[in-house]
This record gives sequence, C-alpha cells and structure tokens, in this order.
Amino acid sequence: MLPAVADAVRAARSVVALTGAGISAESGVPTFRGEEGLWRSFRPEDLATADAFARDPSLVWRWYRWRRQIIAGVRPNPGHVALARLEARLPRFTVLTQNVDGLHGLAGSASVVELHGNIWRARCTVEPGRIVDERPSGPSCSPDSNELPRCGCGALLRPDIVWFGETLDAGVLAQAAEAVRTCDVLLIVGTSGLVYPVAALPEAARHAGATLVEINVARTSLTVIMDHVLRGPAGVVLPALDAAV
Ligand code: OAD
Repeated sequence: MLPAVADAVRAARSVVALTGAGISAESGVPTFRGEEGLWRSFRPEDLATADAFARDPSLVWRWYRWRRQIIAGVRPNPGHVALARLEARLPRFTVLTQNVDGLHGLAGSASVVELHGNIWRARCTVEPGRIVDERPSGPSCSPDSNELPRCGCGALLRPDIVWFGETLDAGVLAQAAEAVRTCDVLLIVGTSGLVYPVAALPEAARHAGATLVEINVARTSLTVIMDHVLRGPAGVVLPALDAAV
C-alpha cells in the first residue's frame, strides 16, 4: 500500500494534504471526537457558536484561553514535519487544515490554508476586518482571566475561528476548492470527515480524478471513497511516506 501511494505522490504535479485534529494529537493537542475528544467533556453549543458567545463571552474566552495554553506548550510532531519536507521537494504541495493551532506553519509548511481560522487571532465583533494577533503571552493565555479583550474601537473581540452554524470565509473556501479540483493526490490526514463543508472536499477531488489516500488510526465516514488507506498514527505513517517518495 505505502509503495503505491509513494509512486502516486512522486508522479503528481500537485498534492494536497487535508488535515484535521488527528495530526496534532501526537503533539498533545486534544481531538474533538472519539474517546478522549473535547466534545465528550464539553458541549459545542455552549462554547463554539455565535449564540454561546452572545450569551456568555467570558465563558467562551476562558475556554479558548485554556486551549491556547495547551497549544502554546506543544511542538509540531514528525507528521507535521513530514508534510513540510514533502512540500519542499514536490512541485506543488498545499496543506488545507481544519486545525487552528498553527502547527503546520511552525513545522515549516509554507503553503497552508487555515479553513477554520487560527486560535491566536481575534477579530472585532463590529468590524470583522479588524484582526488582532494575540501571540502566546500574558492574559491572552490564562484561562483564569475574566478579562474580555477589546478592539481599539472599544467593541468586544471574538476568537477568529469558524464556529458551528457559521460559514467559512468565501476566499478561503474558494482556494480550498481550487486546490482539490486541480490536485492529482489528496492525502486526508487525521480527520473524522464529519464537519461540512470541508468534509465534501474529498468527494470533489475524487470527482476531478484525484487519487484519494486516508491516513488515520481508525475508519472514518470518508474511508469508503478512498483509493488507499494507510492505517496508523500520522506521526509514523507520514515520515514513512516521506522516506518512500
Ligand atoms: P475529530 O476529532 O472529529 O477527528 C479526529 C480524527 O483523527 C479521527 O478520525 C481520529 O481517528 C483521528 N486520529 C486521532 N489520532 C490520530 C493520529 N495520531 N494519527 C492519525 N489520525 C488520528 O477532528 P476533525 O475531523 O479535525 O471545528 O474535526 C473537524 C472539526 O470539528 C474541527 O475543525 C472543529 C471540530 O468541531 C471547529 O472548531 C470549527
């Protein structure tokens, strides 16, 4: 299986990796679903919706600060690094990620599209074009702080993350759609494939003739449409793929 995938990647003019929480699991960032997933202990509707933020912005900010604190303390793992290494060697390689942790960039990937936003950015609730970069320091990371961050204009800031019920940025989605439409190989890494519209991207790639490869520790809702399945942790499978290409 691995040699066939390596052949396809080697021959490709364009490769896309679509990643989810599973690729960061080995770095120590919790996933959302599954036995240890965040949505086992927290209800998304209390924390990751515009309604939740309108009801209790301080609770939502505490949750995101707690996640920032986890993410501030982790490093990219061999899976992230292998994707960056493949990008450096192949003619065209794009990472489309649902993750908001920024670990692909830290690993050295340059062509990264963050589909669901970035946990270190906040944006104005009145003027969404006003973005504030809050790197890991001070109160931006302390889950105990009740302080509500404000924009220069005085309005509340919210995490620059796509919440349930919200639409993805149109430009970002168009970039992702174009990448999957024109790729020869789509690597689908560590995602349950349950959250739309991202979960529709593999089918679009298949429709356009791409070879689909799933890299995951478990079966997912996308497994049935795969050409190849590499079962195992991304931090093991991706370095092996990188070595075989
Ligand atoms: P999920 O938590 O739904 O799925 C994680 C996937 O990673 C599962 O299929 C696991 O089997 C797999 N996995 C776990 N450890 C792995 C490892 N070491 N190597 C490879 N695979 C592994 O996460 P996502 O699919 O990313 O949305 O979730 C999609 C979206 O739902 C997230 O972006 C988030 C969430 O609600 C927002 O925050 C908007």
